[in-house]
Amino acid sequence: MKSKVSIIGAGMTGSTTAHWLAEKEIADIVLIDVVEGMPVGKALDLQEALPVVGKDVSVVGSNDYQATANSDVVVITAGLPRKPGMSRDDLLNTNAEIVRKATQETIKYSPDAIFVILTNPLDVMAYLAMKVAGVAPHRVVGQAGILDSARMRAFVSMELGASVENVHCYVLGGHGDDMVPLTRASNVAGVPLDEILPADRLAAIVQRTRKGGGEIVGLLKTGSAYYAPAAAISRRAGSSISASRRAHLPGTPPPRRRAPALAGLPPAPPAGAAR
Ligand SMILES: NC(=O)c1ccc[n+]([C@@H]2O[C@H](COP(=O)([O-])OP(=O)(O)OC[C@H]3O[C@@H](n4cnc5c(N)ncnc54)[C@H](O)[C@@H]3O)[C@@H](O)[C@H]2O)c1
Repeated sequence: MKSKVSIIGAGMTGSTTAHWLAEKEIADIVLIDVVEGMPVGKALDLQEALPVVGKDVSVVGSNDYQATANSDVVVITAGLPRKPGMSRDDLLNTNAEIVRKATQETIKYSPDAIFVILTNPLDVMAYLAMKVAGVAPHRVVGQAGILDSARMRAFVSMELGASVENVHCYVLGGHGDDMVPLTRASNVAGVPLDEILPADRLAAIVQRTRKGGGEIVGLLKTGSAYYAPAAAISRRAGSSISASRRAHLPGTPPPRRRAPALAGLPPAPPAGAAR
Protein backbone atom coordinates (compact mmCIF):
# COMPACT_ATOMS: atom_id res chain seq x y z
CA MET A 1 0.00 0.00 0.00
CA LYS A 2 1.31 3.50 -0.85
CA SER A 3 1.91 6.04 1.90
CA LYS A 4 -0.56 8.90 2.20
CA VAL A 5 0.09 12.59 2.73
CA SER A 6 -2.80 14.98 3.41
CA ILE A 7 -2.25 18.69 2.86
CA ILE A 8 -4.59 21.06 4.68
CA GLY A 9 -4.73 24.34 2.77
CA ALA A 10 -4.62 24.02 -1.02
CA GLY A 11 -3.31 27.54 -1.63
CA MET A 12 0.09 28.40 -3.08
CA THR A 13 2.28 26.40 -0.70
CA GLY A 14 -0.20 23.52 -0.32
CA SER A 15 -0.77 22.92 -4.02
CA THR A 16 2.92 23.38 -4.86
CA THR A 17 3.77 20.81 -2.16
CA ALA A 18 1.34 18.40 -3.83
CA HIS A 19 3.15 19.06 -7.13
CA TRP A 20 6.62 18.29 -5.71
CA LEU A 21 5.34 15.18 -3.86
CA ALA A 22 3.55 13.81 -6.92
CA GLU A 23 6.56 14.40 -9.14
CA LYS A 24 8.72 12.43 -6.72
CA GLU A 25 6.02 9.72 -6.48
CA ILE A 26 6.41 9.79 -2.71
CA ALA A 27 2.83 9.12 -1.65
CA ASP A 28 -0.84 9.35 -2.50
CA ILE A 29 -1.99 12.89 -1.85
CA VAL A 30 -5.14 14.52 -0.45
CA LEU A 31 -5.69 18.27 -0.74
CA ILE A 32 -8.20 19.91 1.66
CA ASP A 33 -9.38 23.51 1.67
CA VAL A 34 -12.37 25.54 2.87
CA VAL A 35 -12.93 27.05 -0.57
CA GLU A 36 -15.63 24.98 -2.23
CA GLY A 37 -14.51 22.99 -5.26
CA MET A 38 -11.01 24.52 -5.41
CA PRO A 39 -9.05 21.57 -3.92
CA VAL A 40 -11.02 19.17 -6.12
CA GLY A 41 -10.13 21.16 -9.23
CA LYS A 42 -6.44 21.49 -8.32
CA ALA A 43 -6.17 17.77 -7.49
CA LEU A 44 -7.83 16.80 -10.75
CA ASP A 45 -5.55 19.10 -12.74
CA LEU A 46 -2.47 17.57 -11.07
CA GLN A 47 -3.78 14.02 -11.54
CA GLU A 48 -4.24 14.75 -15.25
CA ALA A 49 -0.60 15.94 -15.45
CA LEU A 50 0.82 12.69 -14.10
CA PRO A 51 0.51 10.61 -17.29
CA VAL A 52 2.68 13.24 -19.00
CA VAL A 53 5.48 12.80 -16.47
CA GLY A 54 4.84 9.08 -15.93
CA LYS A 55 4.10 9.10 -12.21
CA ASP A 56 1.55 6.83 -10.53
CA VAL A 57 0.06 8.39 -7.43
CA SER A 58 -3.50 9.29 -6.58
CA VAL A 59 -4.33 12.97 -6.00
CA VAL A 60 -7.72 13.69 -4.42
CA GLY A 61 -9.19 17.06 -3.46
CA SER A 62 -11.99 17.61 -0.97
CA ASN A 63 -13.65 20.03 1.42
CA ASP A 64 -14.33 17.11 3.80
CA TYR A 65 -11.72 15.98 6.33
CA GLN A 66 -12.91 12.37 6.04
CA ALA A 67 -10.82 12.15 2.87
CA THR A 68 -7.67 12.46 5.04
CA ALA A 69 -8.36 9.21 6.96
CA ASN A 70 -5.28 7.06 7.67
CA SER A 71 -2.72 9.60 6.54
CA ASP A 72 0.92 8.88 7.37
CA VAL A 73 1.75 12.59 7.24
CA VAL A 74 -0.53 15.60 7.67
CA VAL A 75 0.85 18.88 6.35
CA ILE A 76 -0.84 22.07 7.57
CA THR A 77 -0.42 25.05 5.26
CA ALA A 78 -3.87 26.54 5.87
CA GLY A 79 -3.91 30.18 6.92
CA LEU A 80 -3.19 33.70 5.81
CA PRO A 81 0.22 34.61 4.36
CA ARG A 82 2.03 37.87 5.12
CA LYS A 83 1.49 41.10 3.22
CA PRO A 84 4.35 43.57 2.65
CA GLY A 85 5.28 45.26 5.95
CA MET A 86 3.76 42.50 8.13
CA SER A 87 5.79 40.31 10.46
CA ARG A 88 4.99 36.61 10.80
CA ASP A 89 3.72 37.32 14.33
CA ASP A 90 1.02 39.64 12.94
CA LEU A 91 -0.74 36.49 11.66
CA LEU A 92 -1.01 34.91 15.10
CA ASN A 93 -4.68 35.29 16.05
CA THR A 94 -6.26 34.47 12.70
CA ASN A 95 -4.02 31.53 11.93
CA ALA A 96 -4.21 30.01 15.42
CA GLU A 97 -7.92 29.31 14.95
CA ILE A 98 -7.35 27.83 11.50
CA VAL A 99 -4.51 25.56 12.70
CA ARG A 100 -6.50 24.50 15.77
CA LYS A 101 -9.44 23.37 13.61
CA ALA A 102 -7.21 21.66 11.03
CA THR A 103 -5.41 19.73 13.79
CA GLN A 104 -8.60 18.68 15.58
CA GLU A 105 -10.16 17.41 12.37
CA THR A 106 -7.12 15.54 11.08
CA ILE A 107 -6.02 13.84 14.32
CA LYS A 108 -9.56 12.40 14.54
CA TYR A 109 -9.10 10.54 11.25
CA SER A 110 -5.33 9.89 11.39
CA PRO A 111 -4.37 9.28 15.03
CA ASP A 112 -0.89 7.94 14.13
CA ALA A 113 0.12 10.66 11.66
CA ILE A 114 3.25 12.80 11.78
CA PHE A 115 2.31 16.50 11.52
CA VAL A 116 4.38 18.93 9.45
CA ILE A 117 3.35 22.54 10.09
CA LEU A 118 4.06 25.43 7.72
CA THR A 119 1.50 28.06 8.76
CA ASN A 120 3.02 31.19 10.31
CA PRO A 121 4.01 32.22 12.90
CA LEU A 122 5.55 28.81 12.50
CA ASP A 123 7.07 27.96 15.87
CA VAL A 124 3.94 28.95 17.79
CA MET A 125 1.67 27.10 15.34
CA ALA A 126 3.72 23.91 15.66
CA TYR A 127 3.46 24.12 19.46
CA LEU A 128 -0.27 24.74 19.22
CA ALA A 129 -0.75 21.75 16.90
CA MET A 130 1.19 19.52 19.31
CA LYS A 131 -1.01 20.61 22.24
CA VAL A 132 -4.29 20.32 20.34
CA ALA A 133 -3.40 16.90 18.89
CA GLY A 134 -2.17 15.72 22.30
CA VAL A 135 0.81 13.93 20.76
CA ALA A 136 4.49 13.62 21.70
CA PRO A 137 6.84 16.38 20.46
CA HIS A 138 8.55 14.12 17.90
CA ARG A 139 5.22 13.75 16.08
CA VAL A 140 5.01 17.46 15.17
CA VAL A 141 7.60 19.20 13.02
CA GLY A 142 7.65 22.88 12.17
CA GLN A 143 9.05 23.28 8.67
CA ALA A 144 11.73 25.97 8.68
CA GLY A 145 15.26 24.60 8.90
CA ILE A 146 15.36 23.01 5.45
CA LEU A 147 13.98 26.19 3.86
CA ASP A 148 16.19 28.66 5.72
CA SER A 149 19.28 26.55 5.07
CA ALA A 150 18.32 26.19 1.38
CA ARG A 151 18.02 29.97 1.04
CA MET A 152 21.48 30.42 2.50
CA ARG A 153 22.83 27.68 0.19
CA ALA A 154 21.26 29.45 -2.80
CA PHE A 155 22.86 32.79 -1.88
CA VAL A 156 26.32 31.22 -1.35
CA SER A 157 26.03 29.33 -4.62
CA MET A 158 25.02 32.53 -6.46
CA GLU A 159 27.93 34.44 -4.88
CA LEU A 160 30.61 31.86 -5.71
CA GLY A 161 29.18 30.22 -8.81
CA ALA A 162 29.52 26.88 -6.99
CA SER A 163 27.15 23.97 -7.50
CA VAL A 164 24.45 23.82 -4.82
CA GLU A 165 25.44 20.19 -4.33
CA ASN A 166 28.78 21.32 -2.88
CA VAL A 167 27.31 24.07 -0.71
CA HIS A 168 26.25 22.98 2.78
CA CYS A 169 24.65 25.54 5.09
CA TYR A 170 23.02 25.25 8.46
CA VAL A 171 20.54 27.70 9.96
CA LEU A 172 19.24 27.18 13.48
CA GLY A 173 16.79 28.96 15.77
CA GLY A 174 13.25 30.15 15.20
CA HIS A 175 11.77 30.86 11.77
CA GLY A 176 12.03 34.63 12.01
CA ASP A 177 14.44 37.47 11.51
CA ASP A 178 16.47 36.29 14.53
CA MET A 179 17.34 32.90 13.01
CA VAL A 180 21.01 31.92 13.34
CA PRO A 181 22.96 31.11 10.15
CA LEU A 182 26.02 29.11 11.25
CA THR A 183 28.82 30.61 9.19
CA ARG A 184 31.69 28.48 10.50
CA ALA A 185 29.80 25.17 10.31
CA SER A 186 28.57 26.01 6.81
CA ASN A 187 30.99 25.14 4.04
CA VAL A 188 31.71 24.66 0.37
CA ALA A 189 33.09 21.17 -0.25
CA GLY A 190 34.29 21.09 3.37
CA VAL A 191 35.95 24.54 3.47
CA PRO A 192 34.21 26.80 6.04
CA LEU A 193 32.45 29.84 4.57
CA ASP A 194 34.43 32.30 6.66
CA GLU A 195 37.62 31.03 4.97
CA ILE A 196 36.19 31.47 1.46
CA LEU A 197 34.17 34.66 1.59
CA PRO A 198 35.29 38.16 2.63
CA ALA A 199 33.68 39.16 5.95
CA ASP A 200 31.43 41.83 4.38
CA ARG A 201 30.06 39.41 1.73
CA LEU A 202 29.43 36.75 4.35
CA ALA A 203 27.63 39.27 6.59
CA ALA A 204 25.46 40.30 3.63
CA ILE A 205 24.53 36.66 2.96
CA VAL A 206 23.64 36.14 6.64
CA GLN A 207 21.38 39.19 6.56
CA ARG A 208 19.75 38.18 3.27
CA THR A 209 19.07 34.70 4.66
CA ARG A 210 17.41 36.11 7.78
CA LYS A 211 15.20 38.36 5.66
CA GLY A 212 14.75 35.85 2.83
CA GLY A 213 11.01 35.41 3.33
CA GLY A 214 10.40 39.15 3.59
CA GLU A 215 12.40 39.83 0.41
CA ILE A 216 9.99 37.66 -1.56
CA VAL A 217 6.87 39.06 0.16
CA GLY A 218 8.07 42.53 -0.85
CA LEU A 219 8.50 41.50 -4.48
CA LEU A 220 5.29 39.46 -4.84
CA LYS A 221 3.13 42.00 -2.98
CA THR A 222 0.13 39.65 -2.80
CA GLY A 223 1.47 36.59 -1.00
CA SER A 224 4.59 34.90 0.24
CA ALA A 225 7.15 32.44 -1.12
CA TYR A 226 5.90 29.02 -2.16
CA TYR A 227 8.32 27.11 -4.43
CA ALA A 228 11.10 26.80 -1.85
CA PRO A 229 8.80 26.29 1.18
CA ALA A 230 6.89 23.59 -0.70
CA ALA A 231 10.09 21.86 -1.82
CA ALA A 232 11.20 21.87 1.82
CA ILE A 233 7.91 20.36 3.02
CA SER A 234 8.02 17.63 0.40
CA ARG A 235 11.58 16.77 1.49
CA ARG A 236 10.45 16.73 5.14
CA ALA A 237 7.32 14.66 4.48
CA GLY A 238 9.32 12.24 2.33
CA SER A 239 11.89 11.82 5.13
CA SER A 240 9.15 11.00 7.64
CA ILE A 241 7.74 8.39 5.32
CA SER A 242 11.04 6.70 4.54
CA ALA A 243 12.05 6.81 8.24
CA SER A 244 8.78 5.16 9.24
CA ARG A 245 9.41 2.45 6.68
CA ARG A 246 12.98 1.90 7.93
CA ALA A 247 12.84 2.28 11.67
CA HIS A 248 10.74 1.29 14.59
CA LEU A 249 12.20 3.45 17.36
CA PRO A 250 11.67 2.32 20.98
CA GLY A 251 8.66 4.12 22.46
CA THR A 252 7.04 4.89 19.11
CA PRO A 253 4.17 2.97 17.56
CA PRO A 254 5.21 0.25 15.10
CA PRO A 255 4.97 1.11 11.40
CA ARG A 256 1.43 0.47 10.26
CA ARG A 257 1.98 -0.03 6.58
CA ARG A 258 3.25 -3.39 5.44
CA ALA A 259 4.45 -4.43 2.04
CA PRO A 260 1.66 -6.37 0.31
CA ALA A 261 2.11 -10.16 0.41
CA LEU A 262 3.25 -11.39 -3.00
CA ALA A 263 1.83 -14.65 -4.35
CA GLY A 264 4.08 -17.58 -3.45
CA LEU A 265 6.04 -15.65 -0.79
CA PRO A 266 5.57 -16.00 3.00
CA PRO A 267 3.71 -13.06 4.64
CA ALA A 268 5.80 -10.15 5.97
CA PRO A 269 6.93 -10.61 9.62
CA PRO A 270 4.90 -8.71 12.25
CA ALA A 271 5.87 -5.08 12.89
CA GLY A 272 8.81 -4.77 15.25
CA ALA A 273 9.98 -8.40 14.75
CA ALA A 274 13.77 -8.83 14.56
CA ARG A 275 14.99 -9.07 10.96
N1 LIG B 1 7.11 28.14 7.50
C1 LIG B 1 7.47 28.62 6.32
O1 LIG B 1 8.62 28.52 5.94
C2 LIG B 1 6.44 29.27 5.42
C3 LIG B 1 6.74 29.57 4.09
C4 LIG B 1 5.74 30.08 3.27
C5 LIG B 1 4.46 30.31 3.78
N2 LIG B 1 4.22 30.04 5.11
C6 LIG B 1 2.89 30.25 5.68
O2 LIG B 1 2.02 29.23 5.18
C7 LIG B 1 0.69 29.72 5.18
C8 LIG B 1 0.06 29.49 3.81
O3 LIG B 1 0.73 30.25 2.83
P1 LIG B 1 0.22 30.21 1.31
O4 LIG B 1 1.16 31.03 0.53
O5 LIG B 1 -0.07 28.82 0.89
O6 LIG B 1 -1.18 31.00 1.44
P2 LIG B 1 -2.45 30.89 0.48
O7 LIG B 1 -3.35 32.03 0.84
O8 LIG B 1 -2.04 30.75 -0.94
O9 LIG B 1 -3.15 29.51 0.91
C9 LIG B 1 -3.72 29.33 2.16
C10 LIG B 1 -4.94 28.43 1.96
O10 LIG B 1 -5.49 28.11 3.23
C11 LIG B 1 -6.88 27.98 3.04
N3 LIG B 1 -7.59 28.02 4.31
C12 LIG B 1 -7.88 29.08 5.07
N4 LIG B 1 -8.56 28.68 6.16
C13 LIG B 1 -8.67 27.33 6.09
C14 LIG B 1 -9.25 26.35 6.93
N5 LIG B 1 -9.87 26.67 8.07
N6 LIG B 1 -9.18 25.06 6.55
C15 LIG B 1 -8.58 24.71 5.37
N7 LIG B 1 -8.00 25.62 4.54
C16 LIG B 1 -8.06 26.90 4.91
C17 LIG B 1 -7.22 29.16 2.11
O11 LIG B 1 -8.48 28.98 1.49
C18 LIG B 1 -6.06 29.11 1.14
O12 LIG B 1 -6.36 28.33 -0.01
C19 LIG B 1 0.78 31.19 5.60
O13 LIG B 1 0.52 31.31 6.98
C20 LIG B 1 2.22 31.54 5.30
O14 LIG B 1 2.68 32.62 6.08
C21 LIG B 1 5.17 29.53 5.92
